[in-house]
Amino acid sequence: MTSQRRPEKIVILTGAGISAESGMGTFRDEGGLWSQHRIEDVATPEGFARNPALVQEFYNQRRQAAAKAEPNPAHQALARLQREWPGEVVIVTQNVDALHEAGGSESVIHMHGELAGALCATCGHRWAAPESMAVGEPCPQCANPSARPDVVWFGEMPYHMEEIFAHLAEADLFAAIGTSGQVYPAAAFVQEAAAAGAHTIELNLDPSAVVSDFAETRPGPAGQTVPAWVSELLGS
Ligand code: OAD
Repeated sequence: MTSQRRPEKIVILTGAGISAESGMGTFRDEGGLWSQHRIEDVATPEGFARNPALVQEFYNQRRQAAAKAEPNPAHQALARLQREWPGEVVIVTQNVDALHEAGGSESVIHMHGELAGALCATCGHRWAAPESMAVGEPCPQCANPSARPDVVWFGEMPYHMEEIFAHLAEADLFAAIGTSGQVYPAAAFVQEAAAAGAHTIELNLDPSAVVSDFAETRPGPAGQTVPAWVSELLGS
């Protein structure tokens, strides 16, 4: 009788750094989005209540930039891993772009929402966002003028948390790619996975704020480190 080793479950967390080589700006690197805009103004419910036009314009610009961006070899390598790995590969992203999907990933958990989505602040209905969302656009379900981008702002609960923690509890391998480790709860996923017995690895340009929580680190641009790591895992 032969015994087959159970394929490992891999959970991957990605951040803005994985889309940097696709031309999408990161938040906290030099010249990043948070050096040009105040978080309180464009990424909080209070900011939206104060100046909805500014917030809609910020996300309209980002939606238009994301629509033009192409996936890079890091997104494509993770899609290859999802296709070819004999076990489960769960991708959790903090990114609101759709570059994982454009790179070929079929299943992606968007914990901070998606630029492609619109959300009714009154009834919670969701629909596909237009490229440019106007202030006071009516909800197709309840007709209230409360359309907002379906993205998670500071002070709001990230999406799919129960599902994500269930995956982390079963992870054999956890990787964080292109994220600064400065925003919770995502920054604590490494500790959660390690507590569950997973091997942990960080692939980032610079060491993140939580680098010491990882068992292994690979510095460098994701477009190079991720395809190399995936080839190593797949043995080719
Ligand atoms: P950050 O801008 O905080 O961090 C990006 C990370 O990517 C940094 O650690 C960089 O060193 C790294 N990086 C840059 N270029 C890279 C490359 N080519 N290859 C690999 N790594 C690279 O972005 P996030 O960690 O994603 O939330 O930010 C987390 C959350 O904070 C975002 O989802 C957003 C933001 O505020 C909300 O808006 C709610």
